Amino acid sequence: MASVTSLSDSVHQRLAAALSAALPQAGSADPLLRRSDRADFQANGILALAKKEKANPRELATQVVSRVESGELIKDVEVSGPGFLNITVTDRAITENLAVRHADGERLGVPLKENAGITVVDYAQPNVAKEMHVGHLRSAVIGDALRGMLDFTGEQTIGRHHIGDWGTQFGMLIQYLFEHPGELAPAADVDGQQAMSNLNRVYKASRALFDADEEFKERARKRVVALQSGDKETLELWQQFVDESKVYFYSVFEKLDMEIRDEEIVGESAYNEGMPETARLLEETGVAVRSEGALVVFFDEIRGKDDQPVPLIVQKADGGFGYAASDLTAIRNRVFDLRATTLLYVVDVRQSLHFKMVFETARRAGWLSEHVTAHNMGYGTVLGADGKPFKTREGETVRLEDLLDEAVQRAAEVVREKAQDLTEDEIQERAAQVGIGAVKYADLSTSPNRDYKFDLDQMVSLNGDTSVYLQYAYARIQSILRKAGETKPVAHPELELAPAERALGLHLDAFGDTVFEAAAEYAPHKLAAYLYQLASLFTTFYDKCPVLKAETQEQIENRLFLCDVTARTLHRGMALLGIRTPERL
Ligand code: ARG
Repeated sequence: MASVTSLSDSVHQRLAAALSAALPQAGSADPLLRRSDRADFQANGILALAKKEKANPRELATQVVSRVESGELIKDVEVSGPGFLNITVTDRAITENLAVRHADGERLGVPLKENAGITVVDYAQPNVAKEMHVGHLRSAVIGDALRGMLDFTGEQTIGRHHIGDWGTQFGMLIQYLFEHPGELAPAADVDGQQAMSNLNRVYKASRALFDADEEFKERARKRVVALQSGDKETLELWQQFVDESKVYFYSVFEKLDMEIRDEEIVGESAYNEGMPETARLLEETGVAVRSEGALVVFFDEIRGKDDQPVPLIVQKADGGFGYAASDLTAIRNRVFDLRATTLLYVVDVRQSLHFKMVFETARRAGWLSEHVTAHNMGYGTVLGADGKPFKTREGETVRLEDLLDEAVQRAAEVVREKAQDLTEDEIQERAAQVGIGAVKYADLSTSPNRDYKFDLDQMVSLNGDTSVYLQYAYARIQSILRKAGETKPVAHPELELAPAERALGLHLDAFGDTVFEAAAEYAPHKLAAYLYQLASLFTTFYDKCPVLKAETQEQIENRLFLCDVTARTLHRGMALLGIRTPERL
């Protein structure tokens, strides 16, 4: 948290600064300020300070109270318990703070962080010539939300979609295409669905041939060698698979309402050229050693069956490079060329051992350090209603598109039921926003490292912690603002606030602090929880405090103002998570 207060500081930050200044050793102790039920805030930090100073905590607390300036910010401060401070802030401070946020438009008065770095986010990494399935959902959704949050704090993010576009499996595919030209249409001529069905057809046919025909198998093997040695014709055919797959990827990402940039699709193959250099550097520095012809890295603490050490294979005995070499080379590129200060990987927790070894290798090589760190946000599995990994009735993995289509369909039922004056087109548009939002929110509101159940009924429910509930809160506010007609939202700091207004106001004021905390901890669920609470506090406010029928014109304007700040905060917060907020529902 910034130590200098400025207008965009939250009430919480201003209060923390005021308390620090009033402590005997200004700045040396954290006042440990928290929101509290008894007053607006409680400060617990005096206990620790008293212990350090060998002072009586209640006396110290009393001293602080006498020094703290009440006035603009603090309405009341009192000592409680063994030496806590209970603090109530003025209504004026709350309204004035929100007025600054209201006037600031998009950023809601949230400052940019001071020492921003560059974070490379590795997420949304499907595999070429393969269908995307439910397993690809979380990486895309979590990665996109983390980028939104990090960007908002001022961090510069660079996306990397490390797609699986290289490996021996391409020998079979390319050889088949070589022998059956024209099976893939030019990428420009197909839509996502056609692209995938072409790829599926080629995959199945080539697989069948590969399994049945020894001679084809041999030709496919030779094709792998040709691919690796950069044979021009082979590379052209390979490129066709990549291009056709991209058409398909883009169509799925569009359905997911997610922007993917072509220059950020940098797959495994992009690191081919650098791999021999990676191997050379690791061998020269002794980080990797030759073992049975292969180049490997050992780790004391990583052991498999029979307590045998499990090595990371940088280069196979036949000279070939694999997944690890491409990731190690990608690290060099991201650190030295992209100048990243943080590498973030949003990859299934089942790959966590791979990343542990890759990161440790890079650390030993000096590519990672205390200044350049790497983290894998290993996320949990999407489970079906039965609590087992999500499968179709036939026991197959669920296609991502099917899952998204079903969510949108369910959402359409909910929207239609509530729709009063919506046309069919509008219903479909809302259904997409509600359905995709529901899928994203269900994912993001769970801590990433935990599994969660994919339960569409619950996801599109209007009651409870769902995106639809938040979207309705937003739409309801828009409807209030429309009904207000000529009466505009205006802040009136001189007005006294009702308890429900204060609770809503203080929560609104904490938006920036919450985003910063959630971004720093890579915890989108903290932002989701904040937004849910915001919608709940709004509901209470709306129950208790008439808006358009408030007593005075000033009160109507001030309540409209609270409505408007709430709507903007909901809109911004949801947008950071990648979720739309329709104006009407
Ligand atoms: N394409 C891989 C898969 O589907 C995920 C890639 C993760 N990123 C990385 N840098 N290894 O399993």
